[in-house]
Amino acid sequence: VTAQVAQRIGQSIDAANAGRDAAVRDARRSEQTFLSYMEHGPFTAFIRDSNGRYIYVNPLFARMYNSTNEGIRHKTSREIGFPEDLAAEVMADDQRVLSTGVSSARTVEMQHFDGCQRQWFAVKFPLIDASGATVIGGVALDLSARVQAEKAKEEAQNQLVKAYKLAALGEMAGNIAHEINNPLAIIDGKAKQLCEILAAPTLDTKTAIKFGETISAMALRLVKIVNGLRNVSRASNNDPFTPKAVAALIEETVALCAPKLKVMDIELKTNEIAPDLALTCRPAELSQVLLNLISNAADAIENQEDRWISVDVSASATSVRIRIVDSGPGIPKEIRGKICEPFFTTKPVDKGTGLGLSISTQLVAAHGGTLALDELSPHTCFVVHLPRHVSHGEKAS
Ligand SMILES: Nc1ncnc2c1ncn2[C@@H]1O[C@H](COP(=O)(O)OP(=O)(O)OP(=O)(O)O)[C@@H](O)[C@H]1O
Ligand SMILES: [Mg+2]
Repeated sequence: VTAQVAQRIGQSIDAANAGRDAAVRDARRSEQTFLSYMEHGPFTAFIRDSNGRYIYVNPLFARMYNSTNEGIRHKTSREIGFPEDLAAEVMADDQRVLSTGVSSARTVEMQHFDGCQRQWFAVKFPLIDASGATVIGGVALDLSARVQAEKAKEEAQNQLVKAYKLAALGEMAGNIAHEINNPLAIIDGKAKQLCEILAAPTLDTKTAIKFGETISAMALRLVKIVNGLRNVSRASNNDPFTPKAVAALIEETVALCAPKLKVMDIELKTNEIAPDLALTCRPAELSQVLLNLISNAADAIENQEDRWISVDVSASATSVRIRIVDSGPGIPKEIRGKICEPFFTTKPVDKGTGLGLSISTQLVAAHGGTLALDELSPHTCFVVHLPRHVSHGEKAS
């Protein structure tokens, strides 16, 4: 009997040992899996106690601070290199998560030991550790690559706008040289005649005044052309928003495209604009928008019998509406949805880049306004609708 009992006891001990071994193996496996997960996951992860001291950090987290899990354990954020103010913020945020039990998510920007500035999307949450204490768990994803890609995209877009402006400027330059020469020749001629009148024994005051007025008018025309040129030739995305008379804006812009329209034998009509009607805007950008729209209109009617473009301004107490209408055949329904997409063009490669409307839409949006095709108009009509005063938030965009 004793031998039997001893055998049974021996068997149960073996079974118990085998069970324990299996449990230990299982525990080890899941620990290995957890550590592998922490090592290979493309995120930083940590656990901190309620005093802000690290209990665990994963390898990527440790690398960001040029350390190891062991090197970071028991230290606080400040002790491992967080800037003072960020460390204090982290501590306060930890306390909030611990006391409310609500997780927090935010983007954090910080410089690491390698000098790299990185943006993180960080999530923190309360969890219970093995001893039953409530601690803070957190993971963060490195958004730097995405932020950088967005910056690069913005930069590329700025470059495109610049290139587009240069191309437009090149096209205009030839016609404008001619347009500048004309008034200059008139100024030169009238000034000479004026000298002759002044040198004559009897002064013909009336004619002298007339010549003086012509010279002044020609000089003003030159000022408009030069102002318009200045608008298209430089980067304007950092220009301040300033009040600008709408009449002057339209005149300067029209002065720029007048030579091209003259060559194409296109009539440009503008309506009477109240001289005190003003817009808070980046004049160079709005001028660019109008030039794009007028240039599109001119292209559309190039081969039409009846060739006119009208720029019509109307205003309410809070907004200004500029309608650019042309005598062209209109825009086919099936492409209307696409015309504002970058690079959409129906023009030959050497003529259109397909950027005009997309850039214009962005510029108008930066003014808190809209650019749209008026589908109800009997003629092709683009409407630029702008608030007269842009609110601060919109200016920043
Ligand atoms: N007034 C218009 N009449 C008819 N079609 C137009 C008019 N304005 C724009 N479109 C159509 O919209 C397309 C896109 O215009 P957008 O100004 O963006 O580019 P684009 O004029 O083709 O090229 P870019 O402006 O770069 O020289 C044009 O190719 C044309 O098909
Ligand atoms: Mg265009």
